[in-house]
Amino acid sequence: MLHFRRTVESGMNRKQPRQLRSLCVVLVTLAYGCLNSGEQKKKKFFNQEIKPLFQKHCIECHGLEEREAGLNLSEFRKIISGGASGPPIVWGKPEESLLMEMMVGGEMPPKGNGLSSEEISTIKQWILLEIGPDCD
Ligand code: HEC
Repeated sequence: MLHFRRTVESGMNRKQPRQLRSLCVVLVTLAYGCLNSGEQKKKKFFNQEIKPLFQKHCIECHGLEEREAGLNLSEFRKIISGGASGPPIVWGKPEESLLMEMMVGGEMPPKGNGLSSEEISTIKQWILLEIGPDCD
């Protein structure tokens, strides 16, 4: 009886590290999935909603040919790496994002009609996407 119990226990002990290891794999996969989906969400929103706005208002000076202050607003990756002043977006904080500040302050675009308040609120919504865990 005693002998039997010991075999069962040592059997369980041997199994534990493997279970722990698979638990780790699951957790890392989940964490990566969440981070990644946040990024994917922002990129998708950019392509659908923001890109057309930048093309309309900004790209003549911040695109492939002209790149004022080193800022290229034509692609998601290029935007987040930013220009002369660094990344122009602080995710979750539109009021601290240079890009937002310059549009709201009427500095960008420097000529012509600025963005409508509707267009500005769409961009604000995009910057706010980061708030909270978004694992869905
Ligand atoms: C007619 C040309 C023109 C248009 C259109 C334009 N910009 Fe600019 N932008 C500039 C110039 C010139 C600078 C650099 C001078 C400055 O910083 O004031 C600049 C600088 C910036 C900067 C600062 C970049 C840095 O790293 O210092 C941001 C952010 C910016 N623009 C955003 C925008 C956005 C967003 C739009 C569209 C809503 C836009 N701009 C449209 C000419 C333009």
